[in-house]
Amino acid sequence: GYGFKLKSAYRSYDTQVTTYDYWVSTENGNTKKADNYSARPGHSEHQTGYAFDIRDYNYEYEDYSKSKSFTWVSKNAHKYGFIIRFPKGKEHITGYQYEPWHYRYCGIECATYIYENDITFEEYYEYFIKFNNPKNLKS
Ligand code: DAL
Ligand code: ZN
Repeated sequence: GYGFKLKSAYRSYDTQVTTYDYWVSTENGNTKKADNYSARPGHSEHQTGYAFDIRDYNYEYEDYSKSKSFTWVSKNAHKYGFIIRFPKGKEHITGYQYEPWHYRYCGIECATYIYENDITFEEYYEYFIKFNNPKNLKS
């Protein structure tokens, strides 16, 4: 019953160059400020095709975290394998400001674990991928 607007999904390297440069220009050339919310070319999840940005269909330019569609998505995205990639209060871990509109696919098991334990993808990666992958273990 909620309407969503897909704002951005897959981005090529060149599109991310344009996107990043645009945000740097809005910050009068201050890359440090732009780095809080825009990934540098080659570093955006949008380039992987796993991420997308959405808004409420009827309130496209409003604060997405205050919309009804967000309330639904934030409680149900994990059931479909998606996570809020840059959660509130975890900026020191993800390196990015809170982005209630940005979702990343990581699979139902991964997304459900992240949701239920209130952790970030970085923490999930550390616990379950990096140290459980024999290739990454020091002998
Ligand atoms: N806004 C996110 C961090 C990106 O640019 O990929
Ligand atoms: Zn995004």
